[in-house]
Amino acid sequence: MEDKRCALVTGGNRGIGLEICRQLALNGVDVILTSRNESRGVEATDKLSISGLHNVVFHQLDINDPLSIAPLVKFIETHFGKLDILINNAAELGIIFINDKEFKAGGGFVQLVDEKAHLLTNIVKEPYELGEKCLQTNYYATKTITEALIPLLQLSKSPRIVNVTSVYGDLYWFHNEKLKHELQDIENLTEGRIDEIIRMFLMDFKTANLEKNGWPLTTSAYKVSKAVLNAYTRLMARKYENIMINCVHPGYVMTEMTSQTGFITEEEGAKGPVMVALLPDNGPSGAYFNRTQVAPFSSIDAPFK
Ligand SMILES: NC(=O)c1ccc[n+]([C@@H]2O[C@H](COP(=O)([O-])OP(=O)(O)OC[C@H]3O[C@@H](n4cnc5c(N)ncnc54)[C@H](OP(=O)(O)O)[C@@H]3O)[C@@H](O)[C@H]2O)c1
Repeated sequence: MEDKRCALVTGGNRGIGLEICRQLALNGVDVILTSRNESRGVEATDKLSISGLHNVVFHQLDINDPLSIAPLVKFIETHFGKLDILINNAAELGIIFINDKEFKAGGGFVQLVDEKAHLLTNIVKEPYELGEKCLQTNYYATKTITEALIPLLQLSKSPRIVNVTSVYGDLYWFHNEKLKHELQDIENLTEGRIDEIIRMFLMDFKTANLEKNGWPLTTSAYKVSKAVLNAYTRLMARKYENIMINCVHPGYVMTEMTSQTGFITEEEGAKGPVMVALLPDNGPSGAYFNRTQVAPFSSIDAPFK
């Protein structure tokens, strides 16, 4: 009997996550579309079902709520007996758009460069609490759900984890050479050291010392969250040699997160994560993909102009 693959997507109710669910289902994969909000998740799943995709089921999951993880694990055990693909897509940006019109007129995220950080305070704001929450969701909650699902992934013949990262996680955006080196020195980096780096960042964020200590100055917490997610991807790939674990930047996509300012559609944006999830067994692990191409973790030139 053919072994049908089963994938779980976090934040599957909208944006790139929903499109990843659709494309995986079109590829014959059974999909567990998860959403923190039950009615939004059911609505998204119904939409896919109406379009003819009956291999998508909904299950509630707020990656920040540990209580929502155990029922999900039980559900997968009962209905699928294993998990083949985990797509960690759910994330938050950690900033507030104060002037959406001006943000859009200025070219969206393209204008958010550190050299202009002082000119942007009337367009976007990064309150400390949102930055802290951004790191909690994009890094710590992603780690928690990943670790909870590892035993089910280990029951798959070809397990895959895809961490949806961002070009903003590129170490190009960091101005502290020692830190850049540490986050790339995978032989010596540990999860404990990543925790310390996050604590250092939060302290500098709180005390307005980001510039002094070489942190990114715009969308700072988001950039740090994705940079540590990339480092974690590499550490996990070394730890679990039988699981193919990669991270993928989907492109600059027109979604709610970007206030619809992206260059590409959700359909185009989902292509990279889906391609990496369906790579053959001899594909890379611990790699970073910019859309569908392997790319460096630290670029020499601005990876996003
Ligand atoms: N759009 C881009 O240009 C772009 C570029 C680079 C990387 N990315 C990455 O691509 C991924 C998807 O982004 P997007 O543009 O599709 O964003 P989006 O439209 O803002 O969607 C984010 C999704 O994450 C969910 N989410 C947030 N916190 C959650 C939590 N605690 N538990 C469960 N779900 C949660 C949201 O749920 P609710 O609907 O309940 O809020 C929503 O489904 C993210 O990892 C993002 O960082 C996007």
